[in-house]
Amino acid sequence: MAKWIDIGPTDQFPTGTMRCVSTEDRQVIVCNADGKLAAVDPACPHAGKPMIDGELRGKVLTCAYHAYAYDVFSGRNTDFPYEELPLPTYPIRVTDAGRVEIQTTRK
Ligand code: FES
Repeated sequence: MAKWIDIGPTDQFPTGTMRCVSTEDRQVIVCNADGKLAAVDPACPHAGKPMIDGELRGKVLTCAYHAYAYDVFSGRNTDFPYEELPLPTYPIRVTDAGRVEIQTTRK
């Protein structure tokens, strides 16, 4: 069973922002999309460029390099939903104590 990893209090992830977080085995980008948290891979599936350079609008993260856009919850390309290479996403939750936790195994 995959373990949950504490990555900090919820106030470190304000609405509308995204932030790179490092765990023991990988980096993820944590996005706060209109108050709901999502965790995605830091590399764009198109050509491997850093998604942290992109722009988050609502639940859509647009890559800064060739403008591929992804739903941060499903990982699907919003322009080409049947694209074979979605942006990998990771399980994320908020505990009763207000801590954010992720799993680093892909959904
Ligand atoms: S590397 Fe992200 S769209 Fe091309």
